[in-house]
Amino acid sequence: MTGKPTTTPSEAESRPNVARMYDYYLGGCHNFAADRAAAEQILAIFPDTGVAAQTNRAFLRRAVRYAAEQGVRQFLDIGAGLPTQGNVHEVVRPLAPAARVVYVDNDEVAVAYARRLLPVDGRTVVVRGDLRRPEELLADPDVRANIDFTEPVAVLLVAVLHFVPDSDDPYAAVARLRDATAPGSMLALSHLTMDGAPPVPTQQGREIYQRSSAPLIPRTHAATARFFEGYELLDPGLVWLADWRPDGEPHAAVSHGYGGLGLRP
Ligand SMILES: C[S@@+](CC[C@H](N)C(=O)[O-])C[C@H]1O[C@@H](n2cnc3c(N)ncnc32)[C@H](O)[C@@H]1O
Repeated sequence: MTGKPTTTPSEAESRPNVARMYDYYLGGCHNFAADRAAAEQILAIFPDTGVAAQTNRAFLRRAVRYAAEQGVRQFLDIGAGLPTQGNVHEVVRPLAPAARVVYVDNDEVAVAYARRLLPVDGRTVVVRGDLRRPEELLADPDVRANIDFTEPVAVLLVAVLHFVPDSDDPYAAVARLRDATAPGSMLALSHLTMDGAPPVPTQQGREIYQRSSAPLIPRTHAATARFFEGYELLDPGLVWLADWRPDGEPHAAVSHGYGGLGLRP
C-alpha cells in the first residue's frame, strides 16, 4: 500500500472533482479550493445537499449491515469515494470480522487517500478501477485475490451511477457485474433523481457538474429500477433513501435519490 497521492497538487486542484465535492458536503477535509467553490455553488442552489449526502451514507450503512446480517461476507464497493465516517469495513467488522472489503474508485486521489487511511489488515483492499470497464475491474489481480466469485458478494454502487451517462452504457456494466456474481449475491444501489424537482435549479446544478470531473446524470425511478434487472428487489423496493429500512438512528434526513437492495436468485 502506498502513501501520498500520486497526482501533482496543481493537476488535482485545478478542476472540481466529484469525489472531493462530496467529501466537502460531508464536512470532510480532503478537498481543494476548486472543489469547495463548486460545492458551494451547488449548496447555494440546493442548501440541503449536505444532509442529503449524510442520508445517502446512512442508507449505505443500513444496506451493508443488512447484507452482512444475511450472511454476505464479501463486499465490492465501486465508487467508494474518500474514506469518511462509517466506511463499509467498519460497518461489517463487528458482524463478520473476517469479511473481505474491496474498495474501488476511478479517482486517483481518492484511491491514494484510501490506501493511506484505511487499515492494512489483509481483508481491506483499495483498487483503482472504473465502473465503465467492468471487464478490467473483474480481472484486477487484487479484486480476484480478495473476492471469491463462486460465493455471494454484495456489489455496492452507492451514489456512483449518476456519474455515468447512458452513452457509457451503465446498464451493461451493472449486468456484467451481476453475471459475474454467484446466486445469493446482492446489489445495493443509490441514485440521484430530480423526480419532482424544479427544472431550472436542476439544470443549473448539472451545469456546475459539467465543469467537474464527471457529468451529473439524475435518473427517474423507472430508469433507476432498470439497474436491478436480474435481481429480486427486496422490501421495501426502490424507495427514497431515507425510507429504506429506517433503523431509528436519530439524524436529520433528506432524500435526493432512491435506494434499493437486490438479491441475485
Ligand atoms: C458521490 S461519491 C460516493 C461515495 C460513496 N459511494 C458514498 O455513497 O458515500 C461518488 C464516487 O464515485 C466515483 N466515481 C465516479 N465515476 C466512477 C466510475 N466510472 N468508476 C468508479 N468510480 C467512479 C467518484 O470518484 C466518487 O469517489
